[in-house]
Amino acid sequence: MHILILHGPNLNLLGRREPAVYGVLSLEQINEKLAELAAGLGVTITCRQSNHEGELIDLLHQAAVDSQAVVFNPGAYTHSSIALRDAVAAIGIPVIEVHLSNIHARENFRRQSVIAPVAAGQISGLGVIGYLAALRAAVALARTGGEDHAGTR
Ligand code: DQA
Repeated sequence: MHILILHGPNLNLLGRREPAVYGVLSLEQINEKLAELAAGLGVTITCRQSNHEGELIDLLHQAAVDSQAVVFNPGAYTHSSIALRDAVAAIGIPVIEVHLSNIHARENFRRQSVIAPVAAGQISGLGVIGYLAALRAAVALARTGGEDHAGTR
C-alpha cells in the first residue's frame, strides 16, 4: 500500500515560520517521523511539497494512479481553492485533511475549509501528532475500502 503525503504552500518553511503557531519541527523532520510510522505500519509513502496550486492538483491526480490514500495539508489554499477541492473530489481515494494549527481557533477566515466537505476527515490543531494520526487513518481507510468510515457520502 502506498500513501501520498502532500504539503501545500509555505510549509517548506516549517521550523522557521511562526514557530509559536506551527511548531519547531522542520518539514523534513515531520516527513522523517511519518516515514518511521509508515515502516511500522508496513506501508510506503511519498512526501511532496509545493507552493503551486496547479502542481498540487497534478500530484493529487497522480495519487489516484499510484496511491491508495492521501494525507493533505493544503495550507492557505484550504480556505479558497475550489480547484483543489474539485481535485480531491475527483480522485476517488480517501484524502485526510491535516492542519498543524487549530484553524477553528484562529482568524475567522481560517475557519472555513472548502476542502473539508470532500475530504474523508479533518484533523486540526494537533501539530505533528495530527499528521501521524492522519497517516494511521489513511491506511485504515484504504485497507477497509472506506467501509468503516462513518461519514459515508
Ligand atoms: C495550516 C493552516 C492554514 O490556515 C495556513 O494558511 C497554513 C498552515 C496549518 O497547517 O495549520 O499555511 O494549514
